[in-house]
Amino acid sequence: MNKIIIITGANRGLGKALVDLALKDDNTLIVSLSRSLHEHHEGISSTRLLFFKTDLSEPFSNAFLEQVESSILPDTVLYFFNNASIILPIAKMGSFKDLDIATSIKVNVQYPVNLINALMSRFSTHETVLVNISSGAANNPIPHWSLYGASKAYMNQIYKVLAEENAANNFTFYTIDPGVLDTGMQVQIRKNIFPKQDYFKALKDDDKLMQPEDAALKIFHTINYYE
Ligand SMILES: NC(=O)c1ccc[n+]([C@@H]2O[C@H](COP(=O)([O-])OP(=O)(O)OC[C@H]3O[C@@H](n4cnc5c(N)ncnc54)[C@H](OP(=O)(O)O)[C@@H]3O)[C@@H](O)[C@H]2O)c1
Repeated sequence: MNKIIIITGANRGLGKALVDLALKDDNTLIVSLSRSLHEHHEGISSTRLLFFKTDLSEPFSNAFLEQVESSILPDTVLYFFNNASIILPIAKMGSFKDLDIATSIKVNVQYPVNLINALMSRFSTHETVLVNISSGAANNPIPHWSLYGASKAYMNQIYKVLAEENAANNFTFYTIDPGVLDTGMQVQIRKNIFPKQDYFKALKDDDKLMQPEDAALKIFHTINYYE
Protein backbone atom coordinates (compact mmCIF):
# COMPACT_ATOMS: atom_id res chain seq x y z
CA MET A 1 0.00 0.00 0.00
CA ASN A 2 1.25 3.51 -0.87
CA LYS A 3 -0.95 5.15 1.69
CA ILE A 4 -2.67 4.12 4.90
CA ILE A 5 -5.35 6.41 6.25
CA ILE A 6 -6.50 6.12 9.85
CA ILE A 7 -9.68 8.08 10.43
CA THR A 8 -12.17 8.53 13.26
CA GLY A 9 -15.88 9.03 12.62
CA ALA A 10 -15.83 7.58 9.09
CA ASN A 11 -19.45 6.41 9.00
CA ARG A 12 -21.13 9.69 8.07
CA GLY A 13 -20.63 13.39 7.41
CA LEU A 14 -17.18 14.65 6.51
CA GLY A 15 -15.52 11.38 7.61
CA LYS A 16 -17.53 9.35 5.12
CA ALA A 17 -16.74 11.83 2.35
CA LEU A 18 -13.01 11.58 3.13
CA VAL A 19 -13.23 7.79 2.98
CA ASP A 20 -15.13 7.84 -0.33
CA LEU A 21 -12.43 10.02 -1.82
CA ALA A 22 -9.62 7.81 -0.51
CA LEU A 23 -11.35 4.70 -1.88
CA LYS A 24 -10.86 6.07 -5.41
CA ASP A 25 -7.16 5.36 -5.04
CA ASP A 26 -6.51 1.58 -5.28
CA ASN A 27 -3.25 1.80 -3.37
CA THR A 28 -4.80 3.21 -0.22
CA LEU A 29 -5.84 1.24 2.86
CA ILE A 30 -8.38 2.97 5.10
CA VAL A 31 -8.57 2.13 8.78
CA SER A 32 -11.90 3.29 10.15
CA LEU A 33 -12.15 3.82 13.90
CA SER A 34 -15.88 4.40 14.11
CA ARG A 35 -18.95 3.18 15.97
CA SER A 36 -20.50 1.79 12.78
CA LEU A 37 -19.91 1.27 9.08
CA HIS A 38 -21.87 3.30 6.52
CA GLU A 39 -24.07 1.02 4.40
CA HIS A 40 -22.19 2.10 1.25
CA HIS A 41 -19.00 0.73 2.81
CA GLU A 42 -20.39 -2.67 3.74
CA GLY A 43 -18.82 -5.46 1.68
CA ILE A 44 -15.70 -3.50 0.79
CA SER A 45 -12.65 -5.78 0.99
CA SER A 46 -10.62 -5.57 4.20
CA THR A 47 -7.60 -5.01 1.98
CA ARG A 48 -9.13 -1.56 1.24
CA LEU A 49 -11.20 -0.73 4.30
CA LEU A 50 -10.54 -2.09 7.76
CA PHE A 51 -13.28 -1.34 10.29
CA PHE A 52 -12.44 -1.29 13.98
CA LYS A 53 -15.61 -0.72 15.96
CA THR A 54 -14.57 2.13 18.22
CA ASP A 55 -16.43 4.30 20.67
CA LEU A 56 -14.20 7.26 21.43
CA SER A 57 -15.88 7.80 24.79
CA GLU A 58 -14.46 4.45 25.91
CA PRO A 59 -10.86 3.92 27.09
CA PHE A 60 -8.23 4.07 24.33
CA SER A 61 -7.35 0.79 22.61
CA ASN A 62 -4.36 0.39 20.33
CA ALA A 63 -5.51 -2.98 18.90
CA PHE A 64 -5.77 -1.49 15.39
CA LEU A 65 -2.07 -0.62 15.38
CA GLU A 66 -1.02 -4.25 14.87
CA GLN A 67 -3.05 -4.37 11.66
CA VAL A 68 -1.46 -1.15 10.48
CA GLU A 69 1.98 -2.52 11.29
CA SER A 70 1.32 -5.67 9.29
CA SER A 71 0.19 -3.66 6.21
CA ILE A 72 2.73 -0.87 6.26
CA LEU A 73 5.70 -0.90 3.87
CA PRO A 74 8.87 1.17 4.25
CA ASP A 75 7.65 3.76 1.72
CA THR A 76 4.01 3.87 2.84
CA VAL A 77 2.76 7.32 3.81
CA LEU A 78 0.60 7.17 6.92
CA TYR A 79 -2.28 9.62 7.43
CA PHE A 80 -4.34 10.26 10.53
CA PHE A 81 -7.53 12.29 10.33
CA ASN A 82 -8.77 13.46 13.71
CA ASN A 83 -12.29 13.85 12.38
CA ALA A 84 -14.91 12.53 14.84
CA SER A 85 -16.28 15.12 17.20
CA ILE A 86 -19.36 15.93 19.24
CA ILE A 87 -20.84 19.39 19.63
CA LEU A 88 -23.53 18.46 22.14
CA PRO A 89 -24.44 19.53 24.69
CA ILE A 90 -25.12 23.01 23.36
CA ALA A 91 -26.02 24.75 26.60
CA LYS A 92 -24.87 27.26 29.17
CA MET A 93 -22.21 26.39 31.72
CA GLY A 94 -24.03 25.60 34.95
CA SER A 95 -26.50 23.31 33.20
CA PHE A 96 -24.18 20.45 32.23
CA LYS A 97 -24.28 17.01 33.79
CA ASP A 98 -20.92 15.55 34.89
CA LEU A 99 -21.26 12.92 32.16
CA ASP A 100 -21.75 15.56 29.43
CA ILE A 101 -18.47 17.21 30.34
CA ALA A 102 -16.61 13.91 30.59
CA THR A 103 -17.94 12.61 27.26
CA SER A 104 -17.09 15.79 25.39
CA ILE A 105 -13.52 15.70 26.68
CA LYS A 106 -13.12 11.95 26.06
CA VAL A 107 -14.38 12.01 22.45
CA ASN A 108 -12.95 15.35 21.33
CA VAL A 109 -9.66 15.35 23.24
CA GLN A 110 -8.68 12.32 25.30
CA TYR A 111 -9.07 9.55 22.72
CA PRO A 112 -7.49 11.47 19.83
CA VAL A 113 -4.54 12.58 21.96
CA ASN A 114 -3.95 8.96 22.99
CA LEU A 115 -4.16 7.95 19.36
CA ILE A 116 -1.64 10.56 18.25
CA ASN A 117 0.68 9.55 21.07
CA ALA A 118 0.48 5.88 20.03
CA LEU A 119 1.01 6.65 16.32
CA MET A 120 4.00 8.86 16.97
CA SER A 121 5.50 6.23 19.23
CA ARG A 122 5.10 3.34 16.74
CA PHE A 123 5.65 4.99 13.37
CA SER A 124 8.52 7.37 13.96
CA THR A 125 10.36 6.08 10.89
CA HIS A 126 7.46 6.55 8.45
CA GLU A 127 6.35 9.66 6.66
CA THR A 128 3.25 10.51 8.70
CA VAL A 129 0.69 13.25 8.06
CA LEU A 130 -1.58 14.15 10.95
CA VAL A 131 -4.68 16.16 10.07
CA ASN A 132 -6.75 17.85 12.72
CA ILE A 133 -10.27 18.70 11.57
CA SER A 134 -10.89 21.85 13.52
CA SER A 135 -13.59 24.49 13.65
CA GLY A 136 -14.01 28.25 13.74
CA ALA A 137 -15.37 27.62 17.24
CA ALA A 138 -11.80 26.94 18.41
CA ASN A 139 -11.07 30.66 18.12
CA ASN A 140 -14.50 32.31 18.27
CA PRO A 141 -16.27 32.19 21.64
CA ILE A 142 -19.75 31.05 20.56
CA PRO A 143 -22.15 31.21 23.53
CA HIS A 144 -23.43 27.78 24.62
CA TRP A 145 -20.62 26.01 22.72
CA SER A 146 -18.08 26.15 25.56
CA LEU A 147 -17.34 22.41 25.71
CA TYR A 148 -17.03 21.97 21.95
CA GLY A 149 -15.09 25.20 21.32
CA ALA A 150 -12.67 24.54 24.15
CA SER A 151 -12.03 20.99 22.98
CA LYS A 152 -11.31 22.24 19.46
CA ALA A 153 -8.93 24.90 20.86
CA TYR A 154 -7.14 22.18 22.88
CA MET A 155 -6.53 20.08 19.78
CA ASN A 156 -5.38 23.12 17.79
CA GLN A 157 -2.79 23.88 20.44
CA ILE A 158 -1.62 20.26 20.60
CA TYR A 159 -1.04 20.34 16.84
CA LYS A 160 0.82 23.66 17.05
CA VAL A 161 3.15 22.32 19.72
CA LEU A 162 3.69 19.05 17.85
CA ALA A 163 4.57 20.97 14.69
CA GLU A 164 7.24 22.81 16.68
CA GLU A 165 8.52 19.62 18.30
CA ASN A 166 8.76 17.79 14.97
CA ALA A 167 9.88 20.52 12.59
CA ALA A 168 12.83 18.47 11.33
CA ASN A 169 11.49 14.94 11.02
CA ASN A 170 8.97 12.83 9.10
CA PHE A 171 5.81 14.09 10.86
CA THR A 172 3.67 16.77 9.22
CA PHE A 173 0.75 18.46 10.97
CA TYR A 174 -2.25 20.23 9.52
CA THR A 175 -5.10 21.91 11.35
CA ILE A 176 -7.97 22.57 8.97
CA ASP A 177 -11.31 24.31 9.53
CA PRO A 178 -13.54 22.65 6.90
CA GLY A 179 -16.18 25.42 6.90
CA VAL A 180 -19.84 25.07 7.76
CA LEU A 181 -20.95 21.69 6.40
CA ASP A 182 -24.28 20.16 5.47
CA THR A 183 -23.95 17.24 7.90
CA GLY A 184 -25.60 15.78 10.98
CA MET A 185 -23.68 18.21 13.17
CA GLN A 186 -25.51 21.15 11.58
CA VAL A 187 -28.82 19.35 12.10
CA GLN A 188 -28.00 19.15 15.82
CA ILE A 189 -26.99 22.81 15.85
CA ARG A 190 -30.25 23.93 14.24
CA LYS A 191 -32.29 21.88 16.72
CA ASN A 192 -30.77 23.56 19.76
CA ILE A 193 -31.81 26.93 21.13
CA PHE A 194 -28.82 29.24 21.61
CA PRO A 195 -28.08 32.89 20.75
CA LYS A 196 -26.72 32.24 17.24
CA GLN A 197 -29.28 29.57 16.28
CA ASP A 198 -30.97 31.83 13.69
CA TYR A 199 -27.65 32.47 11.96
CA PHE A 200 -27.11 28.74 11.46
CA LYS A 201 -30.73 28.17 10.38
CA ALA A 202 -30.31 30.92 7.78
CA LEU A 203 -27.16 29.28 6.40
CA LYS A 204 -29.23 26.16 5.67
CA ASP A 205 -32.26 28.08 4.37
CA ASP A 206 -30.05 30.19 2.08
CA ASP A 207 -28.25 27.09 0.79
CA LYS A 208 -24.91 28.32 2.12
CA LEU A 209 -23.69 25.06 3.68
CA MET A 210 -20.79 23.28 2.03
CA GLN A 211 -21.33 19.69 0.94
CA PRO A 212 -18.99 17.31 2.79
CA GLU A 213 -17.73 15.88 -0.52
CA ASP A 214 -16.52 19.35 -1.58
CA ALA A 215 -14.90 19.92 1.80
CA ALA A 216 -13.17 16.53 1.64
CA LEU A 217 -11.67 17.32 -1.78
CA LYS A 218 -10.47 20.71 -0.54
CA ILE A 219 -8.83 19.03 2.46
CA PHE A 220 -7.03 16.49 0.25
CA HIS A 221 -5.64 19.33 -1.86
CA THR A 222 -4.61 21.30 1.23
CA ILE A 223 -2.57 18.36 2.55
CA ASN A 224 -1.04 17.71 -0.91
CA TYR A 225 -2.55 14.23 -0.92
CA TYR A 226 -2.33 13.91 -4.68
CA GLU A 227 1.34 14.90 -5.00
N1 LIG B 1 -20.53 20.32 10.32
C1 LIG B 1 -19.93 21.51 10.40
O1 LIG B 1 -20.51 22.56 10.07
C2 LIG B 1 -18.52 21.60 10.89
C3 LIG B 1 -17.92 22.86 10.95
C4 LIG B 1 -16.60 22.95 11.38
C5 LIG B 1 -15.93 21.83 11.77
N2 LIG B 1 -16.55 20.61 11.71
C6 LIG B 1 -15.79 19.44 12.13
O2 LIG B 1 -15.80 18.47 11.12
C7 LIG B 1 -15.66 17.17 11.70
C8 LIG B 1 -16.71 16.24 11.15
O3 LIG B 1 -17.97 16.73 11.55
P1 LIG B 1 -19.31 16.39 10.76
O4 LIG B 1 -19.88 17.67 10.34
O5 LIG B 1 -19.06 15.34 9.77
O6 LIG B 1 -20.17 15.85 11.98
P2 LIG B 1 -21.22 14.67 12.09
O7 LIG B 1 -21.96 14.54 10.83
O8 LIG B 1 -21.96 14.96 13.34
O9 LIG B 1 -20.30 13.38 12.29
C9 LIG B 1 -19.58 13.22 13.49
C10 LIG B 1 -18.81 11.94 13.43
O10 LIG B 1 -18.20 11.74 14.72
C11 LIG B 1 -18.53 10.41 15.15
N3 LIG B 1 -18.59 10.28 16.59
C12 LIG B 1 -19.27 11.02 17.47
N4 LIG B 1 -19.16 10.50 18.71
C13 LIG B 1 -18.39 9.39 18.60
C14 LIG B 1 -17.92 8.41 19.50
N5 LIG B 1 -18.23 8.45 20.81
N6 LIG B 1 -17.16 7.40 19.04
C15 LIG B 1 -16.86 7.32 17.73
N7 LIG B 1 -17.27 8.22 16.80
C16 LIG B 1 -18.03 9.24 17.24
C17 LIG B 1 -19.90 10.18 14.55
O11 LIG B 1 -20.19 8.79 14.58
P3 LIG B 1 -21.61 8.20 15.12
O12 LIG B 1 -22.48 8.08 13.91
O13 LIG B 1 -21.24 6.89 15.71
O14 LIG B 1 -22.14 9.18 16.11
C18 LIG B 1 -19.70 10.73 13.15
O15 LIG B 1 -19.03 9.82 12.34
C19 LIG B 1 -15.74 17.37 13.21
O16 LIG B 1 -14.45 17.39 13.76
C20 LIG B 1 -16.37 18.74 13.34
O17 LIG B 1 -16.01 19.37 14.54
C21 LIG B 1 -17.82 20.46 11.27
